[in-house]
Amino acid sequence: MTAVGIDAIEIRTGKLRLDLPGTFAPVKGEEPEKYSKGIGIEYSSLPDVYEDIVTMGANAAKRLLDRKGLAPDDIGRIDVATESAFDNSKPVSTYIAGCLEQVYDGDFHHANKGERKFACLSGTQCLDDAYNWIRAGRNRGRAALVIATDTALYERGDPGEATQGAGAVAMLIDEDPDIVSLSTEQGYGSADETDFLKPNQQFPSVDGKRSVQVYLARMREALEDYESVAGDTHSEDFVYIPFHTPYPGMVRKAALLGYRHITRGTEIEEALADDIGMQPREDDFATREDYEEAIRAYMDELKETRRYREWYEQTIDPTVDISGQVGNWYTGSVHVARLSALRAAAEADRDFAGERMLVGSYGSGAQAEIHAETVREGWRTEVDAVDVEPQLDERYDLSFEEYELVHDVHNHGKDVEVEEFTQPDAEFVFTGWGRMNERRYDYVE
Ligand code: CAA
Repeated sequence: MTAVGIDAIEIRTGKLRLDLPGTFAPVKGEEPEKYSKGIGIEYSSLPDVYEDIVTMGANAAKRLLDRKGLAPDDIGRIDVATESAFDNSKPVSTYIAGCLEQVYDGDFHHANKGERKFACLSGTQCLDDAYNWIRAGRNRGRAALVIATDTALYERGDPGEATQGAGAVAMLIDEDPDIVSLSTEQGYGSADETDFLKPNQQFPSVDGKRSVQVYLARMREALEDYESVAGDTHSEDFVYIPFHTPYPGMVRKAALLGYRHITRGTEIEEALADDIGMQPREDDFATREDYEEAIRAYMDELKETRRYREWYEQTIDPTVDISGQVGNWYTGSVHVARLSALRAAAEADRDFAGERMLVGSYGSGAQAEIHAETVREGWRTEVDAVDVEPQLDERYDLSFEEYELVHDVHNHGKDVEVEEFTQPDAEFVFTGWGRMNERRYDYVE
């Protein structure tokens, strides 16, 4: 069976940044360590006044098409994942295709376009759709363009304000891919939950503490479901485990839970038993509360063991590197985590082809999905070509007052005029509203 997966990746960050420990925390009367250590985000990326989900998505896609030497005729499908859409009918993919048609010969009239919704999970669902379309033999030799793009903004004063971000990830999905192939096996954990939602409103309603619990519960279900089809997972099976990363602190919790699960009943649990005892088993406790308390005590000790810390440093820490510099990109976040892992492997000059990663995606509302990915021979060239550092380094540093202005500009309920903070340079920009309330875009040389 021909491998299908990710052939190329590009990112586009919002061109502004807010220093959370340095600028945000002091105004909020909080300690910088809440952000640098607890939440784990140093900077939130934010969009300049002429940027939005369309410009970031189109700019990432253009760089990808240019670098791969592709024309519209090579693309048979454009799927956009977002939870920041501004239209309930016309999909963002049509806007992005319209932008791209301004700068390429030919058009995307032949391409199937859509927009996927399941909170942050939908980027991975778009990968699935592309994979299935290619596997079904309906692609006529063409590749799929998947774009995950979001402005993850919260109401000012909401606890979620600490985890904001803005950016897009563009991925080319094709047969015989250069970066990773996707496993056929998948696991799901899905339930009707009210943890984070946007019922026809721009900024989310969030029950932050509950959202953390729901993330963990659905991820655990997805892992068990994945194992039911792919067999038991072992801590040595996967070089990296990129998770959906709303903030690195969330991944710390998910990783600990995952490690407890994958080491249960193994020689690792036995080796750890000398120091911290065996894992509590529910049958040994009179009540569920007693069992849960014992689990919490076990986990507190587990996370301090040398074995766990080494595993975390090697397998998880490298996946949250970019996230700590940009914040939450919602639908793009797990794909940023994968890119972080690939970059860590490149930095370590690792012979990585043939190795496997386990990828844990999550969307509020709520659903988790887990699948495996196998690294392909061409990964290094592709990963080295992504311009992460220049983009992150060139961002404009916002003062707190400027941050409030930018937040107001992107608040659909407010009508404010603010000068741009950066100059557009060879990119798509938002130019204003049209007569049918559509958003309009131009390419600026
Ligand atoms: N030094 C070190 N650590 C500190 C600290 C200090 N001085 N002060 C606080 N911390 C730690 C806290 O102990 C805490 O860590 P633990 O959870 O491990 O205990 C962490 O910093 C955050 O502190 P708080 O819990 O007090 O922060 P908060 O009340 O402001 O809320 C939040 C945090 C709930 C994540 C909030 O930012 C939020 O609501 N975010 C949006 C929702 C979200 O991202 N949920 C994640 C799961 S849902 C999902 O994944 C979908 C999605 O993308 C939105």
